[in-house]
Amino acid sequence: MESIKATTYSIHFNEKGYTELANLITQKKYSSVFILVDDNTFECCYSRFMQHLAVEVPIEVIQIDPGEIHKNLETCMGVWSAMTELGADRKSLLITLGGGVITDLGGFVASTFKRGIDFVNIPTTLLSMVDASVGGKTGVDLGVLKNQIGVFANPQTVIIDPEYLHTLSPREIRSGTAEIIKYGMTHDIHLFNEIKDNPNLNIIDLIHRSIEIKNEVVTEDPKEQGVRKVLNWGHTMGHAIESYFLESEHKESLTHGEAIAIGMVCEAYISNKVTGFDINEATIIKNAIITIYGKIDILPEDIQPIMELLKHDKKNEAGTVKFVLLNKYEDFVINCETSSDVIKDSIDFYNN
Ligand code: GLY
Repeated sequence: MESIKATTYSIHFNEKGYTELANLITQKKYSSVFILVDDNTFECCYSRFMQHLAVEVPIEVIQIDPGEIHKNLETCMGVWSAMTELGADRKSLLITLGGGVITDLGGFVASTFKRGIDFVNIPTTLLSMVDASVGGKTGVDLGVLKNQIGVFANPQTVIIDPEYLHTLSPREIRSGTAEIIKYGMTHDIHLFNEIKDNPNLNIIDLIHRSIEIKNEVVTEDPKEQGVRKVLNWGHTMGHAIESYFLESEHKESLTHGEAIAIGMVCEAYISNKVTGFDINEATIIKNAIITIYGKIDILPEDIQPIMELLKHDKKNEAGTVKFVLLNKYEDFVINCETSSDVIKDSIDFYNN
């Protein structure tokens, strides 16, 4: 599978990735290598990774608790302290081996440690393969507000090894699939059609195409001044719903993909009201999403707190919520506004 060239680094697939990593470590003469894992990736992915890491530099492993709840500055403090105690210096390399929490948090830790050391992303979830590991966004949450603290920083390389996907539950795979559906609706409808119509997916092809699309977008707009906002299709509503379910004592948390899948349904409805996106297509999206993810109950009393959380969306300007909307598939418009009533109606559209 062909490597994908990003601005300052490449995304490599399968065995080639490990060869490129060994070359990088040799060429850059790193003083030491730190591998950031969580309990899950230490158990399920670490030994496979170590079989491929044949280099002669000191290697240390730093293990953190898994889950979005630990994606915060306290965990960063623990990692910075561990690196300091273990003698990390400016020529150390941090390898992130894990899902989006590990790659986002690890990239942030690396790019702020001693004003920045190199890091490599080895995503182990579908979600982090097709989204978090590529594009240079690093950071952590502030309370329930996602990714409020962070910096843009590119890895030295990204390795996509689909073998790690065998360690995931079907629910985690479905979570990553939502990001592939997103790229389908905004850039290449075949991706959405494949997932909707074909139960025997060639997942590696879908991953490759998704990364190609993401890379094209972030190359054009690395710091999200304009077109990169398209990657937030479904995420404005989705993030608010995800945060609400995370903080509510009465709700079971949703995966990121489950939340943005609902977000895409809501935003398809909002698109219909604002841009005239075909309502029949919005209904097709709703049916496909409910078939894949099941129906999540969003009750009348949930709506107001979700509206409150929308006020914290990072795309907002002067207190106004900004949406990415579709004119039609593969044709989007950024910085759209709508009324509170349409936003509330979009949740009813999902519900009914
Ligand atoms: N996950 C959206 C982005 O990287 O811009």
